[in-house]
Amino acid sequence: MEEPREASKEIVVKDSEVLYSCFEQVADSGEDIAPAIYGKFFQAMPEAEQHISIMDERMRGRMVEQIYSLLLGEADTDYLKFEADMHRGYGANTAFYRGILEAVKDTVRDRLEDQWSGEFEGAWDRSIERITGEIEQFSSADGGA
Ligand code: HEM
Repeated sequence: MEEPREASKEIVVKDSEVLYSCFEQVADSGEDIAPAIYGKFFQAMPEAEQHISIMDERMRGRMVEQIYSLLLGEADTDYLKFEADMHRGYGANTAFYRGILEAVKDTVRDRLEDQWSGEFEGAWDRSIERITGEIEQFSSADGGA
């Protein structure tokens, strides 16, 4: 009999495949979407900009690369815990994490236009929930951020 844990692992793999194909389609255009992602993030959460403003373009680029890895299910739990710990000192909180992940989703959705589907929406939302849920767990385990 299948363990529920295995079933959710399968969903993660399936969702990651959907997200991967979205990123592939965006990559085909050759556009670096990082500036658009930060633009959307600051528009939705202007209070986050003061934290990010210390980062140059290359750092911002490396940060979004890691966010892509998380969304694609490539990063492991230890890595996520490490980043969540580090980021407490950078002014990040759960709302900001959700905000930047939603900004990635919105940017990709804008690029895919009418190729975007309900299946994509579900896969992105589940992936964002998974990541923010894990980050929240780390925060509460340590007595809150
Ligand atoms: C899941 C989401 C996130 C991931 C995976 C992530 C990952 C990273 C990584 C890998 C770096 C180092 C970049 C480098 O190589 O220089 C970094 C730096 C940084 N991140 Fe994030 N980040 C996330 C979300 C956020 C959010 C929401 C904020 C908002 C306040 C934030 C603020 C910062 C700042 C201020 C730095 C620069 C720290 C410094 O070196 O001075 N991050 N992030």
